[in-house]
Amino acid sequence: MIPMPPALSRQIDETERLAPSRGDAMQISREQGQLLASIALALDAKRVIEVGTSYGFSGLWWLSALSLTNGHLVTIDVSEKKYRQASRTFQDAGVLDRVSLHLGRGIDVIPTIEGTFDIAFIDADKPATQEYFNLLWPRIRRGGAIVTDNVLSHQQEMGNYLNSIRSREDAHSVTIPIRAGLEWTLKIA
Ligand SMILES: C[S@@+](CC[C@H](N)C(=O)[O-])C[C@H]1O[C@@H](n2cnc3c(N)ncnc32)[C@H](O)[C@@H]1O
Repeated sequence: MIPMPPALSRQIDETERLAPSRGDAMQISREQGQLLASIALALDAKRVIEVGTSYGFSGLWWLSALSLTNGHLVTIDVSEKKYRQASRTFQDAGVLDRVSLHLGRGIDVIPTIEGTFDIAFIDADKPATQEYFNLLWPRIRRGGAIVTDNVLSHQQEMGNYLNSIRSREDAHSVTIPIRAGLEWTLKIA
């Protein structure tokens, strides 16, 4: 278990507990969250960007790692309701100072954010996945990664995307078959 402050651990439990009653959370599983945190720790990530905040569950997992690496999360969602609730969740978890929340469409917001990232997490509107990748890949440092959710649950929609990233010479990409399927694409050149 990743060592984390009790407030953060409590918000992870609470956000997991509330998901079924919220109905529209569509959040990752706890096992996926643990893996995301492990990836961030393995890469010593200091800067992570996420498209698809929802109620903050995946963000809390990134933040469990970023609290240890002294890093920062940028997260984007188009839903104002989720943006507001996720802000409260991050505040209650005691990690609001480590997060920049952005309200808007990923396609519009990503170009307004400066700098490079260790990791990008794509978990928003599935048809735009390739566009998010195209915007984010040049901003990932060598040795960093893009992680994409739903590559197994949305195989039809994700097929072209997977073929495209698998054919890149500057990437090593592998599917981790946990729950909806996470694609872990490392930037190797
Ligand atoms: C699968 S959920 C994200 C779950 C979250 N990553 C988690 O595990 O806790 C997808 C989210 O993408 C958001 N979304 C949909 N279209 C979007 C867009 N064009 N730009 C940004 N966010 C979008 C939805 O509002 C929804 O909250």
